[in-house]
Amino acid sequence: MKKTSLILAVLATGIIITTFSCKKKTETIVEEKIVYQTPPPGPPTLYTRLGGINPITLVVDKFINNCATNSFIGSRFSSTAADPNRLQVFRYNLIDQVCEGSGGPCKYKGKTMLQAHTGMNITGAEFDTLVVQLVKAMNTYSVPTQEQNDLAAILLPMKTDIVGH
Ligand code: HEM
Repeated sequence: MKKTSLILAVLATGIIITTFSCKKKTETIVEEKIVYQTPPPGPPTLYTRLGGINPITLVVDKFINNCATNSFIGSRFSSTAADPNRLQVFRYNLIDQVCEGSGGPCKYKGKTMLQAHTGMNITGAEFDTLVVQLVKAMNTYSVPTQEQNDLAAILLPMKTDIVGH
């Protein structure tokens, strides 16, 4: 009888502890609320129309791959592609650049386009080939024409800082 009481007491304590800790866990989860930001007034930014950071990342990754495997400009990116750390920095810089340029919440921390490309003597034909790789990447993910044109309008003016330096 005494033994049974002891077993019951142990079981009861276990149940109380389990209930208590379960309750605590539940309360913690309830406290972790997602805070949704109020969208800015006015028409949606290009960033929003592109679908935000995930679609931008997909397009940038495809774009880098297209460039690195292109027969005309691929050799320009061979050192970058061969070094995983360098490739990752380049990738993040491009993502930030597109994200910030399209009105998103990122901050580009890389070099200016003039600094980044000086000494490379990039030709107009190479620049145009790179743009084709971007268009191909956007087509891969069915980016609509309007958004393609809007992104091109942000990047194309950089040509003067990239070509011939
Ligand atoms: C609108 C066109 C272009 C944009 C937006 C662009 C953007 C960038 C950015 C953001 C960087 C990284 C800067 C940094 O490291 O701080 C970079 C580096 C570089 N770009 Fe461009 N670029 C363009 C055109 C080109 C072209 C036409 C070529 C050659 C065909 C080229 C070749 C390179 C190379 C080789 C690097 C160095 C990558 C590394 O750090 O390993 N870029 N570019």
